[in-house]
Amino acid sequence: MKATVTRLSREQAKELLVRLDSTIGSARGKAAREAMVKLLNSAVPSYTWVGIYAVEGKDLVLDAWAGPAATEHVRIPIGKGVCGFAAKAGKTEIVSDVSKDPRYLQCFLSTKSEIVVPIFDQGSVVGEIDVDGDQLDAFSSLDREFLEAVARKAAAHWSA
Ligand code: SME
Repeated sequence: MKATVTRLSREQAKELLVRLDSTIGSARGKAAREAMVKLLNSAVPSYTWVGIYAVEGKDLVLDAWAGPAATEHVRIPIGKGVCGFAAKAGKTEIVSDVSKDPRYLQCFLSTKSEIVVPIFDQGSVVGEIDVDGDQLDAFSSLDREFLEAVARKAAAHWSA
């Protein structure tokens, strides 16, 4: 039997994009990213863990996160895991059941699905947003659309 999925709604996505602007304010760099992950994690029930990784050479390095626990994956080689795959491809990845994806690097036993959205600056991937959900199939094309808009905000506030 499928668990009931409490997904992001279109109204909430719209409202959150406005709230993100006021929450970020004039913050830049890590401070802006910390404000973003905190708001996303606390406002969206399906976003159990929210992190932003930054590209550092050939790796993704965890820069800001919000959720119930820290992850051991603080550095991920580009190309490894769902995170590294999305960074390499420069494309959003939605995994509806992580147990069925051989690329998946496990962080939390409770995670059932994941979405990873690259952050671009002038055409290059400078980082990404990684969201883990405790429900199967927690993320839809609406989350993709929403998080890609959030990624553009992260890009606009990227450097300190
Ligand atoms: N699951 C990710 C690793 C990062 S943790 O979810 C925070 C992956 O497969 O790349």
